[in-house]
Amino acid sequence: MTDVRELLLSRIRDVPDYPEPGVMFKDITPLLADPAAFTALTDALAEIAARTGATKVVGLEARGFILGAPVAVRAGLGFIPVRKAGKLPGATLAQSYDLEYGSAEIEIHAEDLSADDRVLVVDDVLATGGTAEASVALIRRAGARVAGLAVLMELGFLDGRARLEPALDGAPLEAL
Ligand code: PRP
Repeated sequence: MTDVRELLLSRIRDVPDYPEPGVMFKDITPLLADPAAFTALTDALAEIAARTGATKVVGLEARGFILGAPVAVRAGLGFIPVRKAGKLPGATLAQSYDLEYGSAEIEIHAEDLSADDRVLVVDDVLATGGTAEASVALIRRAGARVAGLAVLMELGFLDGRARLEPALDGAPLEAL
């Protein structure tokens, strides 16, 4: 795993002052462009899906779609998108969460989950944990259980893990 971690780290580009001054943006596009790194990431996340007994993969818009969809295919599981409000055509459940300034809302097609499902949530970055926390709430409101949360990167200084742990209720949070 150490070699995989080094490979993944080497393909994440730090972009200073993006999208605003003082922010160091973690750009995953070099990783996506490298088939060896993208495959290694997909395999590592699919292993978490298998280990946690997941029956479905939920990806969080937008980069969670890019990472989560191949994980679902590799693990032989269905993929369900959690989208920003107003993008899903069917009956949705919606969940609001606070941002630094203002709030945001995400949605899911609840009919794609059942009480038998254990869901692995996949995203690129865990920052404050607000998006992931709202996603966990949506999955529970849809009647399913949460198998875990798997992310490529965790920005430890924002302490999203501490915020999320009560919501995860014992389900693992794995950051590669
Ligand atoms: C980013 C990232 C996570 C979320 C993490 O997405 O991809 O989904 O923020 O932040 P949080 O832990 O503080 O909630 P963003 O909202 O920028 O959407 P995008 O992937 O569509 O650019």
